[in-house]
Amino acid sequence: MGDIAKPKQTVEELRKTINYHNRRYYVLDSPEISDAEYDDLMKELRGLEAEHPELVTPDSPTQRIGAPPVEAFGVVEHRDPLLSLANAFSYEELTAWHKRVSNVLGRREFDIVCEPKIDGLAVALTYVDGLLVTGATRGDGYRGENITQNLKTIRSIPLSVPKEAPPRFEVRGEVYLPKAGFKRLNEERAKEGLPLFANPRNAAAGSVRQLDSGITARRPLDIFVYGLGWAEGKTVPDTHWEIMQYLKSLGFKINPNIALVHSLDEVEKYHRDWGQSREKIPYEADGIVAKIDSIAFQQELGTVAHEPRWAIAYKFPAVQGTTKLIDIGINVGRTGSLNPYAILEPVRVGGVTISSAALHNEEDIHRKDLRIGDWVVVQRAGEVIPEIVEPIVSRRTGKEKIFHMPARCPVCGSEVIKPEGEAMHRCTNAACPSQALERIKHFVSRGAMDIDGVGDKLCQALFEAGLIKDAADLYYLTKEQLLSLERMADKSASNVLKSIEKSKNRPVARVLFALGITHVGDQYAELLAQHFDSIDALAKASEEDLLSIPSIGPRIAQSIIAFFRQERNRQIIEKLRKAGVKLEKPRTVGEELVSSLPLAGLEFVLTGKLESLSRPEAEARIKALGGKAGSDVTRKTSYVVVGADPGSKSAKAEKLGIKTLNEAEFLEMLNKATGKL
Ligand code: IVH
Repeated sequence: MGDIAKPKQTVEELRKTINYHNRRYYVLDSPEISDAEYDDLMKELRGLEAEHPELVTPDSPTQRIGAPPVEAFGVVEHRDPLLSLANAFSYEELTAWHKRVSNVLGRREFDIVCEPKIDGLAVALTYVDGLLVTGATRGDGYRGENITQNLKTIRSIPLSVPKEAPPRFEVRGEVYLPKAGFKRLNEERAKEGLPLFANPRNAAAGSVRQLDSGITARRPLDIFVYGLGWAEGKTVPDTHWEIMQYLKSLGFKINPNIALVHSLDEVEKYHRDWGQSREKIPYEADGIVAKIDSIAFQQELGTVAHEPRWAIAYKFPAVQGTTKLIDIGINVGRTGSLNPYAILEPVRVGGVTISSAALHNEEDIHRKDLRIGDWVVVQRAGEVIPEIVEPIVSRRTGKEKIFHMPARCPVCGSEVIKPEGEAMHRCTNAACPSQALERIKHFVSRGAMDIDGVGDKLCQALFEAGLIKDAADLYYLTKEQLLSLERMADKSASNVLKSIEKSKNRPVARVLFALGITHVGDQYAELLAQHFDSIDALAKASEEDLLSIPSIGPRIAQSIIAFFRQERNRQIIEKLRKAGVKLEKPRTVGEELVSSLPLAGLEFVLTGKLESLSRPEAEARIKALGGKAGSDVTRKTSYVVVGADPGSKSAKAEKLGIKTLNEAEFLEMLNKATGKL
């Protein structure tokens, strides 16, 4: 086997394994390995590719993140235009469509495929010889933007397809942001004073059309493929349903809820069922799409005015209602931000009673011109917190009041400020009880330390009883203390202690996120954990160190530095350390290997000239056997190897009482160690 054959084989095996797990995770939603195991695989692959750049291929899983920035979007001419869909808003309109179809097809029977209509952004993905070569937006239907680099960051889009795939083909689908991702993105934007995305579609489009693919990579985008644009060089199935199964077999993510039906009644039922359960699905659907199954029939039906006659979007009714804005309340968040929210006269919207809505910040309230006492239009979008769309100005009486943020914190009475360039008002008291409690709640929450059985209520009870003042105090709670709380049974107390104990082993990225450093969300925490081995290393990092990490800007860097500068925070970290919470990454496979080598833990310093080995060769042999080669003699030095014409190091070794080796002894040690390998 040649020099390169071995790494090449390993790289290929790693890619295969990673792609398999990517598919389990991103397409099938059923991972088989932990995130940490996955990270290790990626790390190994990255390492090998760094050593052997000639082995890097465009479809390597490593190429999904941190691809070079797109200079500007180029234009992609669509070979076949990307069409839009006609809408039906009622059963009558749906029936009219069905009649038109039946008129063309005469007496021939036809099946229909029903799919959720996803509120995202249409993309066309072209594969040539097994590789994704172009990803484009719909644009005007004929010409779209080339956003290949950005689409490559979406894990559920295959970068390559199996050999069985046609040599050239184009698939089409909808890129979308799941509801939770949309909500989180808008929350972050509200804090930063950026304009909010109106809906998941805009958010997905905004995320995909980024000049820096690093930004796209951090947005939790996903895709559902909904059709084949064209294919060359291979026969493909001749019904839409089978094409979808075929695309699935090629590794594409298709919506698991598509259905093949045989009558208009079934389409109506599908629409009704989905209209009722749309709240429960993790992405936004604004209707269903009904498509004639047979591709031959589709061609016969053709297109009128950019809209195919063979498909229709049957929309869901909007979930809006009107009610009165009784007052505006304020919550104080864990970073001291004053978060306003609308107190509404309860109203039923789409089967759910709404009595409050998110308001984000003062600017948002004024931009919408909302006044206390207004009649307002409220809207629910899935599980996202309801929001106020607009005031109904015509119903004003003149008694409505304009809202202003209070000058004092509603919880502790301290001064409230609005930092330059930020949208949020903040309480200036770092010890504000509301902040402290919110920080503890954040610490135990899912995604952070995930301490089962310790929810908001228990945090509050512990805090109010004076048993915890910060999150680290949780690790010092005793069973007696827990039992002193009202309604705490012996069994639950034991469970709580068990969960707290279990959380000590959370990965560093989680601990970092749990600390609640302003602007450091879970994704940044993950990024920081990739660059620093421990929280201590991060705490010591200078602004310059932090800024050298791609996608960390001055705002985050300064926030991290300010956090670790605060005595209170340093104390919390010390308490966590003493309690046994893991504050550093486990050693990597590489390091573990080193520690099992025969010279592990030994440090050699060479002085003078050796006969049989050059200095670099000697050092390389020491390192290969797990030892370290130092340049200065210190108390940590294990051996000083003394060659011909030694320098002052030999004398120093004697002074410190460090063992010296002559060349023969040194070689013997190396040979013995080599024998132990
Ligand atoms: S089929 C000619 N299927 O809706 C038919 N479109 O309003 C092309 N969309 O541009 C589209 N989910 O971006 C189809 N299951 C689905 C869809 C879907 C969402 C979008 C797509 C299209 C728009 C038309």
